Amino acid sequence: MPVVASALAASPIAPGRLDGWLIGSGTLAESSVGHVTDAADHSFDSQEFRTVLGHFPTGVTIVSGMHDDEPVGFTIGSFTSVSLDPPLVGFLPMKDSETWASMAKGGSFCVNVLSRDQADLCWKFAKSDDEEHRYDEVKWHPAPTGSPIIDRAVAWIDCNVEEVYEMGDHYFVLGRVVALDADADQNGEGPFPLLFFKGTLGGFAAEG
Ligand SMILES: Cc1cc2nc3c(=O)[nH]c(=O)nc-3n(C[C@H](O)[C@H](O)[C@H](O)COP(=O)(O)O)c2cc1C
Repeated sequence: MPVVASALAASPIAPGRLDGWLIGSGTLAESSVGHVTDAADHSFDSQEFRTVLGHFPTGVTIVSGMHDDEPVGFTIGSFTSVSLDPPLVGFLPMKDSETWASMAKGGSFCVNVLSRDQADLCWKFAKSDDEEHRYDEVKWHPAPTGSPIIDRAVAWIDCNVEEVYEMGDHYFVLGRVVALDADADQNGEGPFPLLFFKGTLGGFAAEG
């Protein structure tokens, strides 16, 4: 069933409004563009879904933003590049995420790709009920949109929110890239990325 890809390829999607951002409402023909049905036509439970999908390794990012002049952010593995021209990226926050709700109001975000030396930040920014202390002892400076760039990140990608789509229990947040950089030391030996696989963190090792 087409979900994200179809929604992004479709134009225009009749928009609805939620939290101030456009949401694809899935009214294109009678297809499932921008719309996910509730049909339970599968033979697995959510635990099995998590276990199998956990076999797909991801990078680890902290998506940052500002809310009432305070930095906010959360650990996100669902970051992806979307389009080169125009330059678009995206990520998927849970619909009930407090961090996304506060970040959305600012209209921008910055994706910080974590290094293998930043595993502590991965867990710190994923912990619930402690959101106000996530930036304690974390060095950062503002990107052009004002969102935090975290020191020693492998790369950062600064974006304005272009559109937000509803996708099951998540949103797909589409961002238009306004600035980006990698290899903070500019010496060609920038920090190595942090990876997440089957619930654990590790590093990258070149094999070929
Ligand atoms: C490696 C890793 C990747 C994660 N990726 C996502 C993600 O893509 N989307 C998401 O909603 N939560 C993701 N999380 C969980 C959030 O970081 C966590 O739910 C966090 O508490 C959300 O903050 P909030 O409750 O303040 O919104 C991930 C956590 C970890 C450890």
